[in-house]
Amino acid sequence: MSVNTYKTMQLKHFLQFKDFSREEFEYIFERACWIKKEFKQYRRYWPLADRTLAMIFDKNSTRTRLSFEAGMQQLGGAAIYLSTKDTQLGRGEPVDDSARVISRMVDIIMIRTHGHDIVQRFAENSRVPVINGLTDKYHPCQIMSDIFTYLEQRGSIAGKTIAWVGDSNNMCSTWLQAAEIFDFKVHVSTPQGYEVNPALAGITNDECYKEFADPLKAVGGVDLVTTDVWTSMGFEAETERRKKDFSGFCVNAEMMACAKDDALFMHCLPAHRGEEVSAEVIDGPQSIVWEEAENRMHVQKALVEYLLLGKVKIEA
Ligand code: CP
Ligand code: NVA
Repeated sequence: MSVNTYKTMQLKHFLQFKDFSREEFEYIFERACWIKKEFKQYRRYWPLADRTLAMIFDKNSTRTRLSFEAGMQQLGGAAIYLSTKDTQLGRGEPVDDSARVISRMVDIIMIRTHGHDIVQRFAENSRVPVINGLTDKYHPCQIMSDIFTYLEQRGSIAGKTIAWVGDSNNMCSTWLQAAEIFDFKVHVSTPQGYEVNPALAGITNDECYKEFADPLKAVGGVDLVTTDVWTSMGFEAETERRKKDFSGFCVNAEMMACAKDDALFMHCLPAHRGEEVSAEVIDGPQSIVWEEAENRMHVQKALVEYLLLGKVKIEA
């Protein structure tokens, strides 16, 4: 078995969902499927021996850190965890300088931070691919995993309708970008004052989504119901106000009953039972949150492989 070399590769970043075409995602999903199967059978696949991923975190994480770190090891490479708490980034070293230095020592970089402009500046100054591991605006790795998970459970998401209940946050914006690329519809239900801003979401038109004041109407007849925390990281000062504003927006059994009988429930996690979702829904039979979380690792392995090696040609 051999793979093509990265030396001829064009530098590519994954900063928002629409950075990739549908055809590229379909290739990544095909690879993720194969990579997952090999992993489950304890078959060694080490195409990234001697390659290193730097992971820069300016916000907390369980899944993102673990999935990238374990994933790199499983591909034969290494991952280095860098926190802004104990690197010079946290003491004011410019992002541009940090990007220049870090990208001379590693092969690929993942960043989780607040402002989306930070990952953009990082990418502009990097010699190697940069992956967005979540910003205030977008969470593309999570939605890539969610669409792969839907595909595993139900087949293509094209032509389906999903309901987003809650805050029009980084997850919601990324779902909307995905809807444009994969041709599905999003019913969005947010409290008043938290509606979608299409320009901020980075979508080209508003045909991919429809807004509903009443969440029960938004979930009517949909194929998938999904939500997220009421207060995202970085917005903690608004927690108490948000608890009041979002009080009618808990995805519960009554809401799930309005969706199709075989509708699925997704949540990127971490979840707050009793706030954005009831325990009976997240721990119930329609919930696929654990599959979603696990698939972060498999799709990200395929993503890193693609960014470093391009489309691999596996020879028997
Ligand atoms: N869903 C997600 O990104 O989880 P972490 O915050 O634990 O990385
Ligand atoms: N919207 C959440 C997602 C956490 C994975 C946040 O940004 O905190």
